[in-house]
Amino acid sequence: MMISPEKALSLLQEGHVVVVPTETVYGLAADGYTHEAVEKIYTLKKRPSNNPLIFHYASQEHVQEDVVWTPMAQALAASFWPGPLTMVLERKKSSRLSPRACGHGLTSAAVRVPSHSIFQEMLRQYPHPLAAPSANPSGKLSPTTVHHVHTFWPEIPVVDGAPCTYGVESTIIDARGSVPIVLRPGAISVEAIEALLQQHVQSHGTVSVAEAPGMLHAHYQTSKPMRLNASYVLPHEGLLAFGTPLEGTSWVAQLSSSSCLQEAAKRLFSALHELDIMPCSSIAVMPIPHSGLGRALNDRLQRSACEKI
Ligand code: TXA
Ligand code: MG
Repeated sequence: MMISPEKALSLLQEGHVVVVPTETVYGLAADGYTHEAVEKIYTLKKRPSNNPLIFHYASQEHVQEDVVWTPMAQALAASFWPGPLTMVLERKKSSRLSPRACGHGLTSAAVRVPSHSIFQEMLRQYPHPLAAPSANPSGKLSPTTVHHVHTFWPEIPVVDGAPCTYGVESTIIDARGSVPIVLRPGAISVEAIEALLQQHVQSHGTVSVAEAPGMLHAHYQTSKPMRLNASYVLPHEGLLAFGTPLEGTSWVAQLSSSSCLQEAAKRLFSALHELDIMPCSSIAVMPIPHSGLGRALNDRLQRSACEKI
């Protein structure tokens, strides 16, 4: 069911969940200060309760009310907010963020200021931050169009915001210390973050990489087995193509015919949704370079190709 942003705000205020558009993927939003509202997200998604949520704010000033700000956070926010960068910071003692949405026992919170114009406007009008994970049942493909959202949740109200610009989730960085730690590669490339640090922050070495608690290995599941870095394709297989498609099958979903990583990221989840409903029995994926957004793409594909655990 499509609803207006105004209607969505009144539903959120009454403690309901709604699906909202963001520049990365669609999110399943609830009031970030209200325990019962946040609880509904976990129930609907069947999300493990120790997997914390991201809180979305209209501005940096509002973020600073809930978390302990650092020089690293300042440098990253100045360059990448509003936009698809999430920072993990210590929660302030005075913070009203629902501990239910922060995993069990975590003293940190993941925060971001999104750039999607409709969602931004909603956040400006709403008095609290909105907790929102990607709007898919736990372990499934993230939705980047209203159509994907409807296939998962026909009954949940959705604010239409057109297909998502980036198509992969935000990059998550632990910004508590003087060296940023990438917890999830995403829409902002690690190279862009490294370039910023060289410019603005002195002697902080390189970015290091760890893993966010919710980064389950089997995630972004399609209903079909997947084979990565394919150099050939069989007739019964669907092909996820990047550049000139391999010959051998009639079931092809193209990420980017010009091998553009940005276009490929935007198309990734749609292309996987398409292959999932084509009459092919499995999916072969052409190689994608590991640089720039390719890192986020390969991360999502590897998790997608993982056996269900
Ligand atoms: O682009 C995005 O980030 C989208 C849109 C809706 O904003 N949201 C999203 O949320 O991808 P979700 O729930 O699908 O992924 C959030 C990730 C999880 O892996 C979770 O474990 C991690 O963020 N996370 C949340 N709070 C954290 C914390 N305090 N410390 C470390 N990781 C955290
Ligand atoms: Mg997700």
